[in-house]
Amino acid sequence: MINLTSETRLLNNIRPDILAMSAYHVPDASGLIKLDAMENPYVLPDELKAKLGARLAALALNRYPVPTYSGLVTALRAYAHIPESSGVMLGNGSDELIHLLSMAVSKAGERVTVLAPAPSFVMYRASALLNHVDYVEVDLQKRDGVNGVSFQLDVPAMTAAISTHRPALVYLPYPNNPTGAAFERADMLAVMAAAQAVGALVAVDEAYQPFADFTWMSELARFEHMLVVRTVSKLGLAGVRLGYMAGGADLIAELDKVRPPYNINVLTEAAVSCVLEHVDVLEAQAQQIRETRAVLVSALQSMKGVRPFDTQANFVLVEFERDANEVFEGLKARGVLVKNMTKAHPMLSHALRLTVGSQSENAQLLDALNDILK
Ligand SMILES: Cc1ncc(COP(=O)(O)O)c(C=O)c1O
Repeated sequence: MINLTSETRLLNNIRPDILAMSAYHVPDASGLIKLDAMENPYVLPDELKAKLGARLAALALNRYPVPTYSGLVTALRAYAHIPESSGVMLGNGSDELIHLLSMAVSKAGERVTVLAPAPSFVMYRASALLNHVDYVEVDLQKRDGVNGVSFQLDVPAMTAAISTHRPALVYLPYPNNPTGAAFERADMLAVMAAAQAVGALVAVDEAYQPFADFTWMSELARFEHMLVVRTVSKLGLAGVRLGYMAGGADLIAELDKVRPPYNINVLTEAAVSCVLEHVDVLEAQAQQIRETRAVLVSALQSMKGVRPFDTQANFVLVEFERDANEVFEGLKARGVLVKNMTKAHPMLSHALRLTVGSQSENAQLLDALNDILK
C-alpha cells in the first residue's frame, strides 16, 4: 500500500500535461446494439473462421515475428493496389501510425506544428500533443452539394493557416470522421499544393476507403509529399489491429525507423494474411453496408427535425432539431448505443454519429428514433 504523500511523489514523475489529460473513453456497450464505433456488423462465414483457426493454431507463438512482415506487405500491396515504387509501413492500427508520424516530425527544442481540419479524428490532436507538437485546426464549412449538405474544406482558411503556421504535417481524412463526407477533389488538390509549397507532408487518412467512391492511392507517384494511411478495421477486422501507410520509398524508410520492430504480432499478421486471401467476403460486406447506408440515409431524410449529412463512410452524422443529448439518452434507453458528438465541436452541438449496422440493427435504430421524435 502506498500512502497519499508517496503516491503524490510518484505521480510527480509523470508529465503534468498527461496528468491533466482524460483517458480515451470507451463506453460500456453490454446489452446494447453497438452503433458507436464504425465497426462492420457482420462476422466471417464459418468456413473462413475454421480456416483462420487452423492457420492461427499452426503459428509458433514462442517466436518473435519476422520484422519485415514481407508476406503481409505483399498481400496488402496487391489488395490495396499500392504502387510498386511506394514504400509500406505497418502499424498496430492506424492509430499507431498516426502516433508514430507525430513522433517522427517532433523535434527537441523546436516548435513543430501539425495541422488538420476540424472537426476530424481525435487522435490527430492527441498524438500531436503527446509528442510535444503544436496542433492547429481549421474549421470545415457546411456546403450544399448534389447529395445534400456536407462538411467540406475551407480552402482559403486552410491555405492561409498552412502558410502562416508552416506545418510539418497536414492531415486530410478522406472521408472525414466524424462528418462522413469525402472532401471535393479540387479542394484536396489546393490544400496539397499549399502543403507542398511549405514543404509539409500530407497524410491522406483513408480509414473509410471501403465505403468511399475514390482513393488517392494511385496518385502516390504524382505527389511525393503525400502519404496514404489505411486500416483493415472498418473493412471488418477492427479486433486484429492493423494499419498500413504507403508513400515514397525513401520517406517511408525514414518514418519506419520509429516503428517498434515487432509492433505487429504474429496472430495479426497471420489473420490478416489469411482473410485477405478471401477478401471478396469482406468486400461483399462493405458493399452491403453501402447499400444499407443508402436505405438508412433516406429513412433519416424523411424524418421531421432530422438532418443527415452526406457521407461516404460507414456512418452518418445527423443533426437534430431536438436536444441531441436527449435523443442520445433516448436511444440508449431503447437499447441502441450511438456516438454523442454534441461536445466534440461547436458545429456539432446538435449532432449524433450513427454507425451503419446490419439491416435489422438499422431498423431498430429507426424505430427507436421514431419513438423518441414522435
Ligand atoms: C479517420 C480515422 N483514422 C484512423 C482511425 C483509426 O483506426 P484503427 O486504429 O482502428 O486502424 C479511425 C478510427 O475510427 C478513424 O476514424
